[in-house]
Amino acid sequence: MIYSRIAGTGRYLPERIMTNADLEKIVDTSDEWIRTRTGVERRHVCAPDQSVSQMCIEAAKVAMEAAGVTADDIDMVITGTTTPDLIFPNVSTIIQHELGIPACTAFSLEAACTGFIYALSTADKFIKAGEAKCVLVLGAECITKLVDWTDRNTCVLFGDGAGAVILKPSDEQGIISCHLGADGQYKDLLYYPVGASKNLAAAGTPDAKIMMTGNEVFKVAVKTLGRIALETLEDAGISREELDWLVPHQANIRIIQAMAKRLNMPMEKVIVTVQDHGNTSAASVPMALDVGIRDGRLKRGQLILMEAFGGGFTWGSVLMRL
Ligand code: ACO
Repeated sequence: MIYSRIAGTGRYLPERIMTNADLEKIVDTSDEWIRTRTGVERRHVCAPDQSVSQMCIEAAKVAMEAAGVTADDIDMVITGTTTPDLIFPNVSTIIQHELGIPACTAFSLEAACTGFIYALSTADKFIKAGEAKCVLVLGAECITKLVDWTDRNTCVLFGDGAGAVILKPSDEQGIISCHLGADGQYKDLLYYPVGASKNLAAAGTPDAKIMMTGNEVFKVAVKTLGRIALETLEDAGISREELDWLVPHQANIRIIQAMAKRLNMPMEKVIVTVQDHGNTSAASVPMALDVGIRDGRLKRGQLILMEAFGGGFTWGSVLMRL
């Protein structure tokens, strides 16, 4: 049996940090409201001329070094993002070329905040099928470029960043199971109204902003994530007690706490970065994973559950041994 296993991770966060105090100066909000309702204290915001590919390249270099691989070793690039540099070419081709990776399969996929989980699950299948030997998997977002900085309902939530993982085949257990799902009936609860083939005239107008019915998103997120987490464990025949770590999507500390409760896990066994990163959409899980690995909490052989939920709605989980 061939497993796919994480060989190295990396992250990149833009230099500029925006605190809750900074937001108090631009919208009618307070540090107290943001912290108690969301857990966010600060977020990184990319520069106007900074793109997702640039952040991915920096995160990828760190992951490649950690994994001990060079550009020549990589034979596939998959990026989960909602904010690619351009509509085409797909952002993975830009990353592949800039990193000096030889011509290979390179594509991006869009599943909002679940983008990285979808990308990792896809890479896992290519490796298990014997069709890839070293995959660069990325989750990245310049989501603040879609933010309306006059809308207090959404501008306090989001941040930018990129997370990278090198995935390789292994005889030892790595990814055990992936569960992906989506249900488009919820599209109106969380969306960005301007695209490449619809509502183009609204681009650049005040109507082009993240539309979110926050409290409804919250309810479905808690319910769905709780359900898939338990389903994932059940399918793998693993009990909640056996889990070493939960690495959740970092949208809101209250959603994370609800998940931990559902899994009967103390918060000491949950990697939480929402206070420092905000909701970085597809970047949030790989960056949290990298934080936990680099500060020594996540160790080889431990059993880890990663999960995410986002616009669509989309959702997904990955159960793995590190
Ligand atoms: N500062 C102060 N007050 C605010 C702010 C703010 N920044 N934002 C909203 N409020 C007010 C609202 O106007 C409302 O006031 P009202 O009662 O007078 O109308 C009040 O606070 C409560 O609003 P709710 O929406 O009910 O607050 P809630 O407790 O639900 O928290 C939040 C809002 C933080 C958005 C929460 O619902 C949430 O986190 N939802 C999930 C978001 C999410 O997970 N998104 C997922 C992925 S994103 C993606 O896929 C790209």
